[in-house]
Amino acid sequence: MTAVASVVNAAVARLCAAGFSRDEARRDVGVLARAILGWSLEDWLARSSTNAPAAFAATLDALVARRARYEPVAYLLGEKEFYGRVFRVTHHTLIPRPETEGLVDAALAWLARRPTSPHDAQRACAAARIVDVGTGSGCIAITLALEATSAVVHATDISADALAVARDNATHLGAGAVHFHCGSLLADVALPVDLIVSNPPYVPAQDRFSLQPDVADHEPATALFGGDDGLEVIRHLIPEARRGLAAGGVLIMEIGIGQADNIAGLLEAAGFAGIERHADLQGIARVIEAHVPGPPARPGL
Ligand SMILES: C[S@@+](CC[C@H](N)C(=O)[O-])C[C@H]1O[C@@H](n2cnc3c(N)ncnc32)[C@H](O)[C@@H]1O
Repeated sequence: MTAVASVVNAAVARLCAAGFSRDEARRDVGVLARAILGWSLEDWLARSSTNAPAAFAATLDALVARRARYEPVAYLLGEKEFYGRVFRVTHHTLIPRPETEGLVDAALAWLARRPTSPHDAQRACAAARIVDVGTGSGCIAITLALEATSAVVHATDISADALAVARDNATHLGAGAVHFHCGSLLADVALPVDLIVSNPPYVPAQDRFSLQPDVADHEPATALFGGDDGLEVIRHLIPEARRGLAAGGVLIMEIGIGQADNIAGLLEAAGFAGIERHADLQGIARVIEAHVPGPPARPGL
C-alpha cells in the first residue's frame, strides 16, 4: 500500500515538470486530493500518512493530467465558491471571480438605499425588478435573489448551455424563482426594470495572447472577449439599458482595468447621470454604477 502523501508528492512533481511552481503545484494537488478523499484541511494534516484508498492514485492522476494542460481547478472540481455559496460550473460558464462580488455589494447597497421619493413607503413595499445580463453560472442573479428576497430577478444569456447550468444552480441553491431568458442583452424581459447588473465580456480580442492559459484555452470565448477594444457588448448594452430602466433606475457593470473613463463617456452620452466608480482592494475601478435621472416611479407604474 502507498501512503496518501506519497501519491500526492508524485502528483506535485508531475505538475512541476509541466511548468507549475512548487507552491502552485502543492496548492492545486492538495485541493484536488482533498476533494477526492472528502477530507477537510484538518483531516489532511492528521491523515496524510495513512494508506491511500483504492482508486485514489488513479483518480488523482487523471485530474492532474488535465491540470497539467492548464485546465482550471474549478472545472476539474465542477464548482466554485461565490459570495459564500458553491456554484456548479462547466466549460460553458465563466468561473465566478472574487472581483464580481464587488458588483453584488454595489447592487445590494443600492437596493438598501433605494426608497428615495415621496412615494417611499409604497416603494419600500414594492419588489425591485432586476435583470442580470450575461448570467453565466447565474452567480450574480442567484446571489441577488437570495440576499434581496423581495426582488423579482431575471437573468439573460446568449448561451443556452450556460443557462442550463444557471437554472441548475438556482434550483440547488433555493432560488427557483429567478426567471431565465435565452437571448441577447435584455432579451424578452418585460420592461421597465429598476436595476440592471452585468459582468459582460470586456477583454479586448488582442489580449487573448497575454491571458493565462487557464483562461484563454479553457473559459468560453463568448464570456471573455468584447471585440477589438473590449467594449463591443457594452456599447450595445448601455443604450438598451437606458431605454429599459425606469426613472431613478440604475445600471451597475463590472469593467476591465483601464476602461472606466471610456465607459463613463458612453454612459453620459446615453443620458445616464450620477456615475460612480467602485474600486477594488488595489484601488482600481472595476465596477461602474450609472443612474437614470428623475424620481423613482411609483410601485406598479
Ligand atoms: C464575463 S461572463 C459573466 C458570467 C457571470 N455573470 C459571472 O459574472 O461569472 C459574460 C456572459 O455574458 C454572456 N454574453 C455574451 N454576450 C452576450 C449578449 N450579447 N447578451 C447576453 N449575454 C451575453 C456570455 O455567454 C457569458 O455567460
